[in-house]
Amino acid sequence: MKGLILAAGRGTRLRPLTHTRPKPVIRVAGRPIIHYALDNLLAAGVEEIGVVVSPETEKDLREALSGYPVRYILQEEPQGLAHAVAVAGDFLKESPFVLYLGDNLFQRGIRPYLEAFREGVSAVLALVRVGNPRQFGVAVMEGERIVRLLEKPKDPPSDLAVAGVYVFTPEVLEVIQDLKPSARGEYEITDAIQGLIDRGKKVVGVEVEGWWKDTGRPADLLDANRLLLEELSPRVEGEVEESQLTGRVVVARGARVVGSTVIGPAFIGEGALVEGAYVGPFTSLGPGARVVRSEVEYSILEDQAVLENVALRLQESILGVGAEVKSRNGLPRAHRLILGDLSQVELA
Ligand code: G1P
Repeated sequence: MKGLILAAGRGTRLRPLTHTRPKPVIRVAGRPIIHYALDNLLAAGVEEIGVVVSPETEKDLREALSGYPVRYILQEEPQGLAHAVAVAGDFLKESPFVLYLGDNLFQRGIRPYLEAFREGVSAVLALVRVGNPRQFGVAVMEGERIVRLLEKPKDPPSDLAVAGVYVFTPEVLEVIQDLKPSARGEYEITDAIQGLIDRGKKVVGVEVEGWWKDTGRPADLLDANRLLLEELSPRVEGEVEESQLTGRVVVARGARVVGSTVIGPAFIGEGALVEGAYVGPFTSLGPGARVVRSEVEYSILEDQAVLENVALRLQESILGVGAEVKSRNGLPRAHRLILGDLSQVELA
């Protein structure tokens, strides 16, 4: 069994964060999203893993995955998930494989889908009941079999959404060869699976146990961060001076918490600094981030992000790598903003 993680997407719904970095390397609970995918594959015994990257995402992914034994496969043009699988044909060869969308998080891993993949089954899909099926692939079931699959239908025939893990025999590669682009001009994996169904192949759906998260939008990132932090085991490897840590808090190596209050669950990344500050529940600070004489809660600060001398508490916020929020002393009392394209700022 091989694994194929897709990490070539543009992440348009997460702009501006994804203007400069691919979605799978954004950190939730201190780790790049794609690390959770790799851990789940490895835990399920899938050890030969390919990662599909684009010319734009390759560098960041190689950096985020250094230390993981993976093969990189370049998808030159973003032409859809089925196209990404076709590009990986040489890597997959005749092997069955798990297709894993690099921005999906599964609390309880992927074993149940591999277990359902048995003789006579051409594909297994993880499915999840959602309130907004229009935003996903949607399955129609008869018993354990999926009999119809639609990509983002206007009028969903069920509330069973396709979560981002699929197990396939190599048969799917043949179907992909005959695929036509969809209305949005992409080769859809959903159409390839419908192709299997149309050829009389057995496609099985298995409902996800535990939580599942597709990290498409900023609110999903914050929620994923919350869900993962809820499972944090506390540990203090950095320095804590004259501070109060309450609940599940991680202070990673080289981090310093000085004269501050931290209420967990919270993650203070390597080399981060929290000084004269309040860090509230569901907050993650990336490596080298700084929170100084400020308050922050239910937020993600990426690597080297800075929050300094800000009077009002920051909440439900995401600061990208190296982003800075500081207050300005003296007159005029005005906001001074240097914001990249599509930045979002809500001022109280
Ligand atoms: C993709 C798939 C969709 C699936 C979703 C899960 O959509 O096309 O069928 O439900 O992932 O995350 P995307 O998120 O790329 O729009």
